[in-house]
Amino acid sequence: MINLTEFFKKGYYFGNVSEIFPDIEQFKFMSYKIIEPDLNDETHWVCQQQIATNNKNIPEYLNQKILPHMVSLSVGEERKEIVYEYGLETISHTLIQKNPNKDIMEYFKNYCTKYVQKIYNREEYSDFHQSIQCFIEGSKLNPHTDSHNGSDCVLILYLSNDIWDNNGGELKITNTGDICKPIHGNFSLLDLTKNDIRHEVTTVTGAFKRYSYLFRPSIKK
Ligand SMILES: [Fe+2]
Repeated sequence: MINLTEFFKKGYYFGNVSEIFPDIEQFKFMSYKIIEPDLNDETHWVCQQQIATNNKNIPEYLNQKILPHMVSLSVGEERKEIVYEYGLETISHTLIQKNPNKDIMEYFKNYCTKYVQKIYNREEYSDFHQSIQCFIEGSKLNPHTDSHNGSDCVLILYLSNDIWDNNGGELKITNTGDICKPIHGNFSLLDLTKNDIRHEVTTVTGAFKRYSYLFRPSIKK
């Protein structure tokens, strides 16, 4: 269980979803249902990719081409070849679900809200950001801070039903090296009010698909 003094001191907490959802079987059902859409289906997923533009090898025209961060799956595949060909650095690479099932998102949101409200002593939130992400082989996030004004925290639930065998995709706290494995039932919570610590997601390897639900509640100022 979360120790609030420690949480606000360290800025992060790794826990188990049994602390958030009262019915684990229902949580399992919902989490496997939301990740059903085929990862090759353009109608369900888009690719979010950011490529470092500080490499002098990038021809000007290519630079223009790779700048938009959110692209279709096929453009994402094209870029992979470009990245390889020119030896570029990928800052981030993830797949985002376009229109996740509303009822399931509502279910996640309701329990996550209750959990977070207790920690931050909030009566209600005026805004929520939530998304379903998938990191496939080669996906990663370089060290960064989330820095969202008005948000209390970021909560990430891991939803994959694949067996994780040291396949990366861990949330790593850059300074301490602490990691949260992306195994079904784990979650990570990052405080943004007093901390906003640097973190990263290590490169996913092999056939493991790192699915996650990301939740960020805020209060409009
Ligand atoms: Fe982040």
